[in-house]
Amino acid sequence: MKFIITAGPTREFIDPFRFISNPSSGKMGYALARAAVGRGQEVILISGPVELPPIPGAVLVPVISALDMREAVNSHFPYADAVIMSAAVADYRPEDKFLHKLKKGGAEISLQLVRNPDILEELGQKKGDTILVGFSAETENIIDNTLKKLKSKNLDLIIANDISAPGSGFAGDTNQVIVFDRRGMADQWPMMSKDNLADRIIKWTMDYSEFHV
Ligand code: CTP
Repeated sequence: MKFIITAGPTREFIDPFRFISNPSSGKMGYALARAAVGRGQEVILISGPVELPPIPGAVLVPVISALDMREAVNSHFPYADAVIMSAAVADYRPEDKFLHKLKKGGAEISLQLVRNPDILEELGQKKGDTILVGFSAETENIIDNTLKKLKSKNLDLIIANDISAPGSGFAGDTNQVIVFDRRGMADQWPMMSKDNLADRIIKWTMDYSEFHV
């Protein structure tokens, strides 16, 4: 199978030296790429800025902003059998990017932000037979919010984690998740390393492609 896997944060620049971002380490996405390559699959790894070495055997496409990531994902989408969006895409970007370093001035300044496109939701509208897997990073009402994302993004699988719980979330090496399939059936997976979780997700996707598509 051909996989598109996204990883890491995006950066939304305010001026050439400052940006809005989040602490995503990229570990989950890189673990997914490693697991898919390990199972003999083709991988395009579209990655925001992270401090991780490339994965041998995966094609690395580095991107910076959400708009860059959307362009890279869309350009590879027609050839993909599965897309796994593990990137922590910034939902908003500054409306204007200052061309020069912003000088300090008064006691307060305000920043106008505009919505970024929802990359996965756009894919959901044209998915065809391509398998779509999303993540759901939540701190409250995990189940309700995750089921809403499953539907609105037209996903085959969504992996929900409580990013405020110990042992789960952005920067650590472990994750505890509940997954929901297309019909909304839930399955709680035990706490495991991101490598084991990644392999389980890749295996799920490969089995699904064989039996359901
Ligand atoms: N996602 C995306 N494009 C965005 C935002 C999110 O493709 N602009 C993807 C993420 O990669 C993830 C899924 O959508 O697979 C859910 O992301 P998450 O941040 O949990 O939720 P949002 O849809 O952004 O909603 P909210 O921030 O309101 O919880």
